[in-house]
Amino acid sequence: MAELHNDLLLRALLRQPVPRTPVWIMRQAGRYLPEYREVRAQAGDFMSLCRNPDLACEVTMQPLRRYRLDAAILFSDILTVPDAMGLGLHFVAGEGPKFSNPVQTVDAIRGLRVPDVEKTLGYVFDAVRTIRRELDGKVPLIGFAGSPFTVGTYMVEGGSSREFPTIKGLAAEAPEALDALMDIVAETTIEYLNAQIEAGAQAVQIFDTWGAALAPDDFRRFSLASMQKIVDGLIREKDGRQIPVILFTKGAGPLLADLAETGCDALGVDWTTDLSTAREYVGDKVALQGNLDPATLRESPEVIKQGVADTLASYGSGPGHVFNLGHGITPDIDPERLGVLVDAVHVLSPQYHG
Ligand code: CP3
Repeated sequence: MAELHNDLLLRALLRQPVPRTPVWIMRQAGRYLPEYREVRAQAGDFMSLCRNPDLACEVTMQPLRRYRLDAAILFSDILTVPDAMGLGLHFVAGEGPKFSNPVQTVDAIRGLRVPDVEKTLGYVFDAVRTIRRELDGKVPLIGFAGSPFTVGTYMVEGGSSREFPTIKGLAAEAPEALDALMDIVAETTIEYLNAQIEAGAQAVQIFDTWGAALAPDDFRRFSLASMQKIVDGLIREKDGRQIPVILFTKGAGPLLADLAETGCDALGVDWTTDLSTAREYVGDKVALQGNLDPATLRESPEVIKQGVADTLASYGSGPGHVFNLGHGITPDIDPERLGVLVDAVHVLSPQYHG
């Protein structure tokens, strides 16, 4: 395998010194790019794009051709895991993801099994191998999965939800059944992420978009505990290099202190917590990734540059910062504006490194 030419991301995630702050963007491959929309149209639909390793590789590479990014992220989705468990994922235009067979009762949860990930998700590992070959050591490749609670919300509600009535009902009335659901998704996710790592993923991120919708004690019991199991089960070193693990709980706030105790390497932070405050919560235990408000990308170049400057200043000096947005880039953003952000990180960040 080709030697890694730019390892800034891996070093920053491990809190090692770097000459500037590395940058990548959540959802960097996506609908805001016209070249993405073209390939997606060619594929027919989103899941066909995910299942085609050559096309998944192509859209993974697209943002790297436009911007001076320090990482690629596998093009796939967090909902491939419940699809592999037999729930029947499909996307309804304008409504987002849907499951034909949601898991809404205690009996349905008891009926779930850990799938054979090579058989059901082999297309993802093929995509990882294809992307690593195409990257040729240019930048590292990030693999990912959803947290069991976040994935569980879609499995139980049958699609996107605002209030999470069914899964919160389970948490209140059948907590042992929800524990069992978290366990089986965590076990599947360990096998899924380890297979991504074996195929060539050089860091992994767990997206916990909805964990902080729970009250703190329920967050700890259902979301944090299941992410802890995953962290404990992952391959952490391969070919003489550490495989950093990033946990991103959107809206975590003070719960960042709990997340930092899991043994992960880095935490994603959304824009509702200043990085300086986040640093107080976690001390020097983990690196931090984030956290510019994605809405800033709708503003003028001057406002975007100021946003980058403020984010870098909020983290302050020293290693352990990876620049990102506080959540994914949205489809309405002008691609030129993201260029302004990435260039500003290159220009403004060296002063924070010694
Ligand atoms: O970051 C990346 O570039 C990697 C690819 C990636 C996608 N989804 C591609 C995608 C990643 C990391 C995800 C994660 C994901 N998927 C999350 C967690 C992160 C987050 O943003 O909160 C969640 C909750 C999902 C579930 C999901 N997938 C939803 C709700 C939707 C519909 C969104 C919409 O606006 O229609 C998807 C589809 C999806 N996943 C798209 C992309 C590029 C859009 C598909 C398209 O229409 O082309």
